[in-house]
Amino acid sequence: MASPIRYARPFPVTSYETPYRTHNCNELRRADVGRIVRLAGWVHRRRDQGGIVFLDLRDRYGLCQVRISKQAQAQAHETVAAVRSEFVVQVEGEVQARPDGAHNPNLDTGEIEVAAMQVEILADSPTPPFEIAGSEEISSEVRYRHRPLDLRRPDVQQHLLRRHRIQRRMREFFSERDFVEIETPILAKATPEGARDFLVPSRLHHGTFYALPQAPQVYKQLLMCAGFDRYFQIARCFRDEDQRADRQWEFTQLDIEMSFVKTEDVLALIEEMLFELVREEAVHPCELQLPLRRIPYAEALLRYGSDKPDLRFGMEIEDVSEIARGAEFEVFRSAVEAGGAVRGIRVPGGAELSRKEIEAFQPAAAEHGAKGLAWLKVTAEGTSGPIAKFFTTDALPKALGAEPGDLLLFVADASAAVVAWSLGAVRRAVARARGMIVRDRYEACFVVDFPLFVEEEGTGKWVPAHHPFTAPHPEDLALLESDPHKVRAQAYDPVLNGVELGSGSIRIHRRDMQETVFRIMGVSKEEARERFSYLLDTLAYGAPPHGGIALGVDRLVMLLCGVDTIREVIAFPKTTSGVDLMSDSPSPVDPDHLAELGISLRGDG
Ligand code: AMO
Ligand code: AMP
Repeated sequence: MASPIRYARPFPVTSYETPYRTHNCNELRRADVGRIVRLAGWVHRRRDQGGIVFLDLRDRYGLCQVRISKQAQAQAHETVAAVRSEFVVQVEGEVQARPDGAHNPNLDTGEIEVAAMQVEILADSPTPPFEIAGSEEISSEVRYRHRPLDLRRPDVQQHLLRRHRIQRRMREFFSERDFVEIETPILAKATPEGARDFLVPSRLHHGTFYALPQAPQVYKQLLMCAGFDRYFQIARCFRDEDQRADRQWEFTQLDIEMSFVKTEDVLALIEEMLFELVREEAVHPCELQLPLRRIPYAEALLRYGSDKPDLRFGMEIEDVSEIARGAEFEVFRSAVEAGGAVRGIRVPGGAELSRKEIEAFQPAAAEHGAKGLAWLKVTAEGTSGPIAKFFTTDALPKALGAEPGDLLLFVADASAAVVAWSLGAVRRAVARARGMIVRDRYEACFVVDFPLFVEEEGTGKWVPAHHPFTAPHPEDLALLESDPHKVRAQAYDPVLNGVELGSGSIRIHRRDMQETVFRIMGVSKEEARERFSYLLDTLAYGAPPHGGIALGVDRLVMLLCGVDTIREVIAFPKTTSGVDLMSDSPSPVDPDHLAELGISLRGDG
């Protein structure tokens, strides 16, 4: 019988002691004065004061100052003559209190230094492409080409450390609540999340392909059918879509699915987790007000012009269609007569802006189809601006609750949706330009009651607003066949600081309902079978009512780190054109390898 493994010594979880070091670079304090210690790390900075050389030794825990005096340790002093930034060195020495006046309050180790007795160079380094210890801006091209060096920079490193803590907390949070983490395949079948798939050719079955999962959506529903009533996974997802500040081709979801639940059960869980994470892991910790607001999609559009409203500032949109209806101003009147709307926002103190500054908001509106952006300045005497002559009463300022010194911005259009989205963009642009977004504040909400279907641009087909497994609102079932566009979905999005953090829904768990929804989408029975037979068949064998959600981990970490792009919180991200500058991928492959896969490239002859 094998004897149980016995460790020679208990391995204390907080000890960094190995043959190379006794402590990490951020551990020593005044109480350690007099101890002989060994440190190993990178040379962050080197200052040569003739008879004395100072090294700031760095590891991921922090910095420790090392003093090498020629008089006391001639040998060590000679060794460090060759040492430059980013050399890896090992230092043995005595912890000494720094003299009064030489304390560094910015360092945890700022009251001590290590007086070196011995220095050994473990690895040298050429001058790096940028100064790791520097604070100047480095182009992202250079940063991502030399990402491992970039990741040595303490600020950059903090983002990954915070990410680790957040993901660890997520795992704890769900495990404590009886959720099971189950891995699902990466070599999978196409999923219906709406983006383009990444394909992997099969070597054994030429002409067939796996799709990398856009999300574990179908698998997690199958796990519900299998009886794992509470599932989660920190899952990698792949989507071939345009990359943006908050989109990468590969990203991570906190994926969740639960059986025997309704919308509120899912939302209550998610808001509790968000509350904890914002309190414990945000760079600017704060308390979210629970319960988070549930804002119906239609209201979000009306009041914020967005399906992911940023609640960190006011400037809610007001409808002034009734005032515009009788107005002399043709642009406003005709928009209302055509069945559209006129709406506006109030910019507090905005009357101080110049015409040029106001017109700078026009492109934001135009991007969403608005044909113009009308404005009025509110003064003690009345109103001024190009359309003031049409509005001589105080009806508009009153409708928007304006005070002297405010600026009012309006969009009119025959399409109320154009008005909403355009003003939403203007609202955000104004808030940014006027510094109304308080960076250390976190405001979250759930947008609920999304439409089940949206009309696909170009084709006019009804496509699912979320994905085709989303259950219709029970109150709207009668409309499913007659007015599909009026049917609300049991779908919800958590939104944090104006960023769509996640998406989820209660799912269809009855095969007949699933088939109806496919039919309305124009997916034939054959196509539905071909793509989703494994789900449809499983639903037929008794599926529990279930629902879930997926949160974008990269986005959540980005917000909690207080940075503007998810690239900052991904160890090895890709550029906007999908290139990994560091490893130079994608890259060509050996023709023999392609032949094995049964693939020939166009132009190969
Ligand atoms: P959805 O497609 O809305 O829903 O994705 C959920 C969340 O994942 C994040 N996300 C991304 N993050 C970075 N880069 C991307 N390219 C990217 N795409 C999406 C977002 C988004 O809100 N299966 C459903 C969820 C469910 O119904 O349970 C799904 O994937 O934060
Ligand atoms: P005009 O009558 O074209 O000189 O426009 C007068 C003002 O109305 C300008 O400030 C335009 O930007 C604005 N405007 C034009 N079309 C619209 C519209 N659809 N919605 C809001 N403002 C508009």
